Amino acid sequence: MDLDRVALGYISESPRPQVSRVNSSTPLPVGEYVCADFRVKNRSSGDTESYTAVAVVSNSGYRMSIQPGTASYSDESRMAKLGSIDLPKYSPIDIYIVANLKRNKDGSYTVETPRYPIPPNTPIYPAPKEILELVYSIDSTKGIKLGHLAERRDVEVYVDVDKLSKHLLIAGATGSGKSNTVAIIADRLASLGAPVVIFDVHGEYGNLESMNRDRVRVEHIEAAINPLDIEPRILASMIIREAAATRQRRMLRMALSNVVNRVFEEARRERKDLKKAISDLFKEEGKKQKTKPLTDLSKQGSSGSEDEGENKLSAEEMFRDLILRELDQDYIKNLFESKKIESVKDKVEEFFEYAPVSLDAKRIRSFIEPGKIVVVDVSEMSDDQKAWILKLLSDDLLNDLKARKGEGTPTVLVVEEAPVFISIHENTPAKESLQKFAREGRKFGAILVIVSQRPRDLDINVVSQLQNFIFLKMVQSEDVQTIMNIADSLEESLAETIPSLPTGRAIVLGEWVGRFPVLVDIDMHKGKKMGTSPAILELWRAALDRRMRSTEDVEELDVP
Ligand SMILES: Nc1ncnc2c1ncn2[C@@H]1O[C@H](COP(=O)(O)OP(=O)(O)O)[C@@H](O)[C@H]1O
Ligand SMILES: [Mg+2]
Repeated sequence: MDLDRVALGYISESPRPQVSRVNSSTPLPVGEYVCADFRVKNRSSGDTESYTAVAVVSNSGYRMSIQPGTASYSDESRMAKLGSIDLPKYSPIDIYIVANLKRNKDGSYTVETPRYPIPPNTPIYPAPKEILELVYSIDSTKGIKLGHLAERRDVEVYVDVDKLSKHLLIAGATGSGKSNTVAIIADRLASLGAPVVIFDVHGEYGNLESMNRDRVRVEHIEAAINPLDIEPRILASMIIREAAATRQRRMLRMALSNVVNRVFEEARRERKDLKKAISDLFKEEGKKQKTKPLTDLSKQGSSGSEDEGENKLSAEEMFRDLILRELDQDYIKNLFESKKIESVKDKVEEFFEYAPVSLDAKRIRSFIEPGKIVVVDVSEMSDDQKAWILKLLSDDLLNDLKARKGEGTPTVLVVEEAPVFISIHENTPAKESLQKFAREGRKFGAILVIVSQRPRDLDINVVSQLQNFIFLKMVQSEDVQTIMNIADSLEESLAETIPSLPTGRAIVLGEWVGRFPVLVDIDMHKGKKMGTSPAILELWRAALDRRMRSTEDVEELDVP
């Protein structure tokens, strides 16, 4: 241990117990862990107490010790040679004191929140591994590894997964390492047995593979809306989104309920599957009403017989036409103005044209298993549709866990690109559901992980439920300010490092890492090539190469 006790610098001032300034002959890297030993006289007991402060470098500068005369700069012969002026210089360094270790009489330590400032002239030295492990003492058997302490490959950092009932917020600018962090956490939680769902907004996890393939399975599914599997009330809200259009929504809900009931009734009575039931109802009613099918497809194929037109329709299109016909029924006409009916029909057509609707889509919940990561790709959907799918998913997960009365398997839901869904500025369908998921999930094992690149836009009602944190690099001061408000244990002097954190380095806070903030270099996830940006240069070169070769081939062919 004494080998490490090289003085790296000396305390010059300590304005507060958490903050000291150090003068050193050379700068130390931001993020480096250091220690300082000092004594304090306890005024009530009269004893002298020995402390070891554990601190992290939060800022590092460089200065001339003596202001040089301007003459030395204007000396032209010197300037011409670009030589350096050899004057004394020093490095003022800020350190953030994470914890104080009080040395007990028996040689053991008690770890405390800093209460005494470090006296000036105290030397600082590299933090020994044993001391760091006393401060960050998460039992590795109770958790997952996140990485290692900043600049310290010898000290691994674990987090306690039992504390995840307090959820998790991951915030950082684009490229700061959020998705990698998600991959590491998801993979390691799954290898402990957790079911994990990643709501993949940008299709970024399309290639995600597990690093523990013998234990963890990854399944990729494309989210789709199954109109037979969604309550008519909710489906009506998905189709008619205008807040004020309550009558239209009511009309559509009535029509939807009737159609859905008829489909299920037909399927049950005749013991057929739902799609067959839809196509039979469609044919039957087509004959009854003696109207041509309402779809564009069949209008185009006007030369063919009606039967052929029907065959070309998918079950989804037939289902749509059943709804459109239902809206022509007298009971609807008696209740609503024809203008409103027409506008509802337009919305229904638009919805079936643009939304990813599939009668085969299974509930996302049915894919969930222990030790499995389900990646739900919603990248092809509009923001609005994403929000609805997320609402359905989080309600479904929470309701299932609630129904099991605390006996269900705790399930992790990771929501990427959170501001779209839980923005302060907008009311999306998902917002209320996520709030509920976080609030009630605490008791029932629903674990929410929110990933955000603009924490300042997050809705405070959701965010206040999240009490474990990973903060990666963020540049905007509003974002740094916001996270300081969200995580009260994040001191300003530590938060100052956030704009200069390198990729993959994070401040980790919350009960899951224990009492003190940790600066962590997060492990790189190896089992995936994440679809961030293509290797443009390489692709161009390869493409050009192929073209040149194919031209050569042609030329060769021309040669007899
Ligand atoms: N912990 C890490 N260690 C080293 N490099 C990393 C780490 N995390 C991310 N990177 C690098 O940064 C890139 C962007 O990371 P990513 O997780 O996609 O950022 P974000 O999701 O915040 O935009 C990755 O492709 C990877 O090369
Ligand atoms: Mg990302």
